[in-house]
Amino acid sequence: MSARGVLVLLTVLAAGAAPAAAQTEPPPGGALYQKLCSQCHGEKGDGNGIAAPRLMPRPRDFTTGKFKIRHTPSGALPTDDDLRKIIREGMPYTSMPPWPQLSDQQVDELVAAVKSFSPDFANPERKPVPITIPKAPAYSEESAKKGKEVYARIGCPACHGEIGRGDGPSAPGLKDDAGYFIRAADLTKRWTYRGGPTREDIYRTFTTGVNGTPMPSFAESLTDEERWQLVDYIVSLDGREDPGYAELVQVQWTTDDIALEAPDKARELFASAAAAYFPVVGQITEPGRAFHPSANGVTVKAIYNARDIAFLVTWHDMRADVSGHNAPDLPVPPEEDKGEVAADPADEGGGFFGEEEVTEEASADDFFGEEEGTADAGTESEFSDALALQFPATLPTGARKPYFLFGDAQNPVDLWFVDLAKKVATRYKGAGSDSLTLEEGEDVTAVASYDKGEWSVILKRSLRATGGVTFAESQYVPVAFSLWDGAQRERGNKRGLTRWMYLYTMPRETPSPLWPMLRAAFIVLVVEILLIVWVRRRQTPVSPVGQEG
Ligand code: HEC
Ligand code: HEC
Repeated sequence: MSARGVLVLLTVLAAGAAPAAAQTEPPPGGALYQKLCSQCHGEKGDGNGIAAPRLMPRPRDFTTGKFKIRHTPSGALPTDDDLRKIIREGMPYTSMPPWPQLSDQQVDELVAAVKSFSPDFANPERKPVPITIPKAPAYSEESAKKGKEVYARIGCPACHGEIGRGDGPSAPGLKDDAGYFIRAADLTKRWTYRGGPTREDIYRTFTTGVNGTPMPSFAESLTDEERWQLVDYIVSLDGREDPGYAELVQVQWTTDDIALEAPDKARELFASAAAAYFPVVGQITEPGRAFHPSANGVTVKAIYNARDIAFLVTWHDMRADVSGHNAPDLPVPPEEDKGEVAADPADEGGGFFGEEEVTEEASADDFFGEEEGTADAGTESEFSDALALQFPATLPTGARKPYFLFGDAQNPVDLWFVDLAKKVATRYKGAGSDSLTLEEGEDVTAVASYDKGEWSVILKRSLRATGGVTFAESQYVPVAFSLWDGAQRERGNKRGLTRWMYLYTMPRETPSPLWPMLRAAFIVLVVEILLIVWVRRRQTPVSPVGQEG
């Protein structure tokens, strides 16, 4: 600990000892902590800042001494370096921000502040002793294959699912130590890991466990070799360390017939189309907000032939909710709009984060049957999973696009909506989220399937249709996507969405690079021949008796 850190700690202790002098004492954790961190982590470091009730996961309660990302054994405190790294880099896909702009001295001051809130750090018996992570051997396919067996044998699929999409049978019922629902990580998306995407990070995670969560430590049960095999298997699930978000879907030309009657064959037609991965965020602009949407990304492929255009849309979902119903215009009661995430009132462990809120939610519970934001393992949701594609109703002539939330009066949108309980596509005309009208006519067809934590939906329409854009070659068309997770009671305006993206219908004949080269060579040849002929012609009359030099 730095001298400055000790000073902060001493001042904090002194403040506790002499409450009479409170007015002139520095606040707990020091001024920098109060300025940058207290709105989430609370003035007293108890995780109860003003923003806390709306955050999922909740800001850490520093008084518990439980930290997720550590180089120390399960249950132990983190090292100062662990804390420094978290403060510098933040925790991806949570509201814990990175603070790269702070000086080393400021970071040390904050480390001391965090530690000051738990007496455990002052306990010599609890002094954190880091584990050593051996140097990673080179990645190999063979090792990844063996890792798949380790993964299944040791029980990771119970929470993370058969191929890591976060859809294990236990996943919907998982809670953290404070009683809040916690998602088993989607292991195929390394960029969402709280503790970093590298092979060393993964090794560390399952060796030390994630304190305060159901993610156990597997320190005893695996040899070092097995550990790296397991790491390699997880890395093999998706090679990407960062998501590589796209802005555009390239619609691939095909001469094949697009027939949804044979979905597997139809899916094969997309094999050569480029996949575009778009970020999905919660709709928080209008009432019916989704502060914690289930989906964080959607993958889109598209193809067209002389008659039709078709989309293959896939995303990960913890379970398929197909018993209820859904629609883009279902109302969301204003009470749900607070965005507060409650622990299960029935859960004893949930009392810590303010009793008040839990009781408040318990009374709201009588209205909604089921508390917000919790997917219960056994219970079926009243709402089903759903998907919508959104296009402008007519192609915009300028840069102006319809309002991204289901359009506006001047610029309506065309919604292709699929309730995954019914698996049929319907179309809505949208002139704003309070002005959606069901369109007649069955001109969009869809097939959908759910497998191992992934929804896969194909939608098809003819290139031209009444009440929608006409798709033509070499054309840019704005497109946006909405996803609803029934388990999280997402419906209507409460949903995950992308902003406006673009479709680009690729030219029919993708010219091979050889052809322009051949053509250029051919032109050169023709020009040369003409030149020779011309020179000969000119030469002939000038020197009819021959030309020797
Ligand atoms: C906007 C809200 C917000 C602010 C501001 C914020 N944090 Fe956090 N912080 C969080 C959340 C949420 C988590 C929990 C993430 C999780 O559990 O995955 C967290 C977790 C942490 C952790 C725990 C790491 C672990 O391994 O468990 C530390 C340490 C931390 N924050 C320090 C700070 C410090 C220091 C500041 C101020 C410089 C700060 N935070 C500011 C929201 C915030
Ligand atoms: C009892 C359920 C459970 C089991 C079993 C389980 N995990 Fe987890 N795991 C979780 C939860 C919950 C999280 C999310 C923790 C969080 O968000 O803070 C998680 C997170 C992770 C992460 C991401 C950590 C990060 O930095 O965000 C990895 C990697 C991981 N688990 C790997 C494994 C592996 C490998 C196994 C088997 C050896 C395994 N898990 C077994 C529940 C489980």
